[in-house]
Amino acid sequence: MNLQRSDFGDDFQWGVSTAAFQVEGAHDADGKGLSIWDVFTDSRRIKGNHHARIACDFYNCHERDVDLIRQLHISNFRFSLSWPRIFPSGKRPVNLRGFSFYDRLIDSLLERNIDPWVTLYHWDLPHLLELKGGWTNRDIVDWFSDYTAICARHLGDRVKNWIVMNEPSVFTGAGYFLGIHAPGKRGLPNFLKAMHHATLATAEGARVLRSETRNANIGTTISCTHIEPNTDLKRDIEAANRVDTMLNRSFLEPLLGLGYPMDDLTVLRKMTPYIQAGDEQKMAFDFDFIGLQAYTRELVRHSVFTPYLKAAIVPAKKRKVTFTEMGWEVFPESMYHLLKQFSAYPKMPKIIVTENGAAFKDVVSDGKVSDTDRLRYLEDHLEQLHRAKSEGVDVGGYFVWTLTDNFEWAEGYNARFGLVHVDFDTQKRTIKESGKWFAEFLAQI
Ligand code: FCB
Repeated sequence: MNLQRSDFGDDFQWGVSTAAFQVEGAHDADGKGLSIWDVFTDSRRIKGNHHARIACDFYNCHERDVDLIRQLHISNFRFSLSWPRIFPSGKRPVNLRGFSFYDRLIDSLLERNIDPWVTLYHWDLPHLLELKGGWTNRDIVDWFSDYTAICARHLGDRVKNWIVMNEPSVFTGAGYFLGIHAPGKRGLPNFLKAMHHATLATAEGARVLRSETRNANIGTTISCTHIEPNTDLKRDIEAANRVDTMLNRSFLEPLLGLGYPMDDLTVLRKMTPYIQAGDEQKMAFDFDFIGLQAYTRELVRHSVFTPYLKAAIVPAKKRKVTFTEMGWEVFPESMYHLLKQFSAYPKMPKIIVTENGAAFKDVVSDGKVSDTDRLRYLEDHLEQLHRAKSEGVDVGGYFVWTLTDNFEWAEGYNARFGLVHVDFDTQKRTIKESGKWFAEFLAQI
């Protein structure tokens, strides 16, 4: 890549992202309650029956990984709080021992001049709340607001950057419609209720943060995928529009005050019974930034067999293109297209790319991991980000997913996304070539 760090500007924020359940382990330490992911992994629905009881042992050895962040010259670290560590039953009383882990973590970041970016919800709902319906129960807006208020009061003196929610389309879609993520529920009514309540909770959580903190930088993250029709046929173009509406618009537009895009995706009208008077205003919030999480593109064709969407994805594996261990096409231009698409909303705040990265088969050989595919992936995506930025898109940061290999949800430990390799038998860390490249890039003045 010919670009230098300085080409992105002095105030551009460079970071790395993680999530509590994927790295912490210590599943029952210091009074932590069960999360829906503890229960889901115990039910052996993950590839290889993997679980995250230890994961990267980040809970016990976070100093080692914070040192690595510093060594890589990364100055922003995004991590999530485990709701059941702080509220073991989902609601008060607070478990102060859970908070003290985050106190220690935040202090060790600040001591090394690394800025904490705290995500309030990255999918590990307290199991006891799921027994009451979880995201399908409208009371979750209050449960989440209370949890948010406590976190803001406890950590707000040291944390400036807050992310309310991680990818609501994924945890509601995979967790409450397809049943492939925790809590493993299925069906349209579950999904639409979860979607609406997650949207309300995102805006309400942000309002709580605003009132409980001073000078906070408040955002939320959205999963996005560049969508193209498989052919120029009208029915494929229409199918692609429906998928684009579902994946890229439905969770963002209500936050921007535009309501749900029901005219472009009529199945969303089935949500009407769950929407109460005044909800449209309650769903909107003036965020300081939106975190986009972009990995790939999908090609879409019309399909009569897919209920509601009448659209199917043409898998990358069948298209003679390069793809990652997740089966996701490597298509760096998707970063450019998505940044252009999202920045076109008149009320769009600053964009931060809060996740981007790739899983490849990595092997340690002679103490080295030569992950040239990942290195090239990151370089090419950064070039496309820069292309959009130089055309005026207000994008203010880039966070790699992720620091260390970790528990990749339904894929278990098979999909390695880290800049740093982890041997899960010994917990040994090895900085991959991509990590060394990123560190060298960031070390440039
Ligand atoms: C995102 C998730 C993150 C990680 C990456 C690969 O959808 O937010 O936790 O699993 O995908």
